[in-house]
Amino acid sequence: MQSLLKCIDCGAEYPIDSIIYTCPACEGLLDVQHDLDALQGRVSREFFDSRLGTLEHPYRSGVWRFKELVYPGAPDDLIVSHPEGNTNLYAAPRLARWAGLQHLWLKHEGENPTGSFKDRGMTGGVTQARLLGMTQVACASTGNTSASLASYAARGELRAVVFFQEGQVALGKLAQAVAYGATCVQIPGDFDTAMRLVRQVAEELGLYLLNSVNPFRLEGQKTIVFEILQQLRWEVPDWIVVPGGNLGNSSSFAKGLFELRELGLIDRFPRLAIIQAEGANPLYRGYRNQFATHERVKAKTLATAIKIGDPVSYDKAVRALHWTDGVVEQVCDQEILDAKAMIDASGIGCEPASACSLAGARKLVSAGIIRPHERVVGVLTGHILKDPELIVGYHTGQLEGIQATYGNLLHRLEPTLEAVRKMLVEVQPG
Ligand code: F0G
Repeated sequence: MQSLLKCIDCGAEYPIDSIIYTCPACEGLLDVQHDLDALQGRVSREFFDSRLGTLEHPYRSGVWRFKELVYPGAPDDLIVSHPEGNTNLYAAPRLARWAGLQHLWLKHEGENPTGSFKDRGMTGGVTQARLLGMTQVACASTGNTSASLASYAARGELRAVVFFQEGQVALGKLAQAVAYGATCVQIPGDFDTAMRLVRQVAEELGLYLLNSVNPFRLEGQKTIVFEILQQLRWEVPDWIVVPGGNLGNSSSFAKGLFELRELGLIDRFPRLAIIQAEGANPLYRGYRNQFATHERVKAKTLATAIKIGDPVSYDKAVRALHWTDGVVEQVCDQEILDAKAMIDASGIGCEPASACSLAGARKLVSAGIIRPHERVVGVLTGHILKDPELIVGYHTGQLEGIQATYGNLLHRLEPTLEAVRKMLVEVQPG
């Protein structure tokens, strides 16, 4: 049987080539559903491991290596792949100690071609756009989605139109979207306003919507956990910790894990910890009251990637928490930027929102929810160079209300040996 689209609320099913983003019957979110019965026995750990290191298109991609679980029906010649994925999983003993853990790994999704995890979803989404014969694609973005869409659309020879909040996109991301040739539109509203606008644009003007409400995006993103499991030789970690903004990534992880368990590639779930910024915490608020209410917030955080008050994949994230016995934590900007400074100074580096993973893990350890001996994987979602202005602001103590706890100052010296000798004695590395 072919893959199909299935509503997560009412269960209605639609053909895989329907141009819909939510259920026409009840407006619920859609899953891409694969025929898992047909895949039983066809896929295995060894089957996916045998493709590691291949140079063959599309399997050399860290997304399409898992094609049978991503989009088995996609014709290889339509697949737009850089390739993406195959990112490093770093053992991080020093950061583990800082967080109070014995075993911590960081999966660096900033190592994707445009510097964020979005590329994994975009290869699936742009491929589907081509398969449907769409010529124009669009998204609203806090920055990374637009950079990724702009690049993949250019490679697939499609027109990209991206919408963002004026003055709120980190420089690296804005520069990428402009440079890759997207039509870039700044609006005077917040991300949530841009999101509502682009949904209308897609509906009324016929552009193909490539935000993570598009379920083909999530099929690519779930391969982050597939790769983590391969890299850990299929030993399931106790926790996967991930930042939460529009909640596509966390939702996709749980779907991927669910499928792996159905197919017998793993026998238990890791627990998912979704970390939100304190000023952009609608899921955290829902979690705290057992999801009795669904609040939207006016988002405010220096981690602009996750400055989102009304996430589109909220309902899928709730499902993800239910499936994985997951938790939600919030961290303030000071905690995020201190964790980022630690990750950066360890030589790994990431963008601000990504540091929620470490900041959140640390907080959950001190709250006794993650136990020190448990094996924890944190996902770093974006590259250190995405937001250079915030780095300089932090280290020079110029961010309002933020202490440069782990600041590293720039030195200015007279060009003499004596001045350098004195400085080396007076200034000791942190
Ligand atoms: N980390 C980074 C670096 C991001 O760019 C995003 C989302 C997230 C975390 C949150 O992931 O939305 O799946 O929960 N950025 C989107 C964008 C919203 O437009 O680039 P999520």
